[in-house]
Amino acid sequence: MIYFDNSATTKVHPEVMKTFVAVNEKFWANPASIHEFGHQTNELLQTARKQVAEILHTSADKIYFTSGGTESNNLAIFGLANKYKNRGRHVLVSAIEHPSVLEAAKQLMKNGFEVEWIPVNSEGVIIIDALKKLLRDDTVLVSVMHVNNETGVIQPIQELIAYIRGNSRALIHMDAVQSFGKLPVDFAEMDVDAITISSHKIHGLKGSGLLALKTFIEVEPMLLGGGQEYGIRSGTTPVPLAVCTAKAIRLAQDHLQANASKLKKMTDELIHFLVSFPAIKIISPSNRAPHIVSFSVRKIKGEVLINALQQKNVIVSTSSACSSRHTKTSHVLKAMHLQDEYIKGVIRLSFSPLNTKEEIDQFKKVFTNVMNVIKGD
Ligand SMILES: Cc1ncc(COP(=O)(O)O)c(C=O)c1O
Repeated sequence: MIYFDNSATTKVHPEVMKTFVAVNEKFWANPASIHEFGHQTNELLQTARKQVAEILHTSADKIYFTSGGTESNNLAIFGLANKYKNRGRHVLVSAIEHPSVLEAAKQLMKNGFEVEWIPVNSEGVIIIDALKKLLRDDTVLVSVMHVNNETGVIQPIQELIAYIRGNSRALIHMDAVQSFGKLPVDFAEMDVDAITISSHKIHGLKGSGLLALKTFIEVEPMLLGGGQEYGIRSGTTPVPLAVCTAKAIRLAQDHLQANASKLKKMTDELIHFLVSFPAIKIISPSNRAPHIVSFSVRKIKGEVLINALQQKNVIVSTSSACSSRHTKTSHVLKAMHLQDEYIKGVIRLSFSPLNTKEEIDQFKKVFTNVMNVIKGD
């Protein structure tokens, strides 16, 4: 099988798998227990937290292990908006965020916040002039994703941050689910207040991830109970998942440069190949993350291509895993005003450093055959 759907999820890295087994076998105590076994397990948890904090350049007590990107995004949106609502009740969210941000923001509206959506241009890039008009004295939170999961577009995050910092007291949350491990992401690199990371996008385990806050920033908790994770996320901390999250983050960070250049080389080659088909339009802009190529074949439905490729053991997806089970047109492509003849035909190829040049070569052969059969015009 050739698996080019790594933005939906990645295969667990063998090192992560080993860690998962070892922690479950040796450190399965409750880290809050006061006996020695509990202490040892807690030490392991705190080491994982410290390692992540060092990589992200924040304090260890600002790393909250969660069930993944969705929970972290919810925690950031509700937790920051509610904690700092004395600054105002106006929230800005980009129009192309992941549903876990969009839906949380819509829920805020029901709780008395005013939410506005920052528009994007035809490449999916946030229109800075629009942000300038929307930002107000009472804006409490701006949430912007670093890399979009459907097209791979990289937002001009530094420019956005500079404007927001210079002109408001708003907090900034960045969903880095698709960028961590492919681009530099940390609080020293970018002056944001909160960063979301999901483990299963970087060869970690599904159902795990974290929200990291900049030192001194606080959130209101969402899960109440025994006060674990510094009172922010109650529930017995799943130490094996937390330790594996730290492991996946370390692996991704240690190989960041090498992985990014390998991915860029592979996807550049692929784009070069795809543009040779007159019916194909590349949707990913030139300023894209190195692991995502999205494209559309004119007047051909995405599902047709996906099924044809699947029959040849090549796994790809429509623009996002979340939208692929719904017939709904992607909100990202709509926000980009993609023409009707292309909008239903968008395919996303997404790569991991575990993919190989041989797989790209094989894909090219299979894809050429498939195109000969379906003939987009
Ligand atoms: C940009 C982005 N944010 C958030 C999420 C949600 O992450 P999780 O699957 O860990 O809940 C995803 C998953 O597809 C994503 O691509």
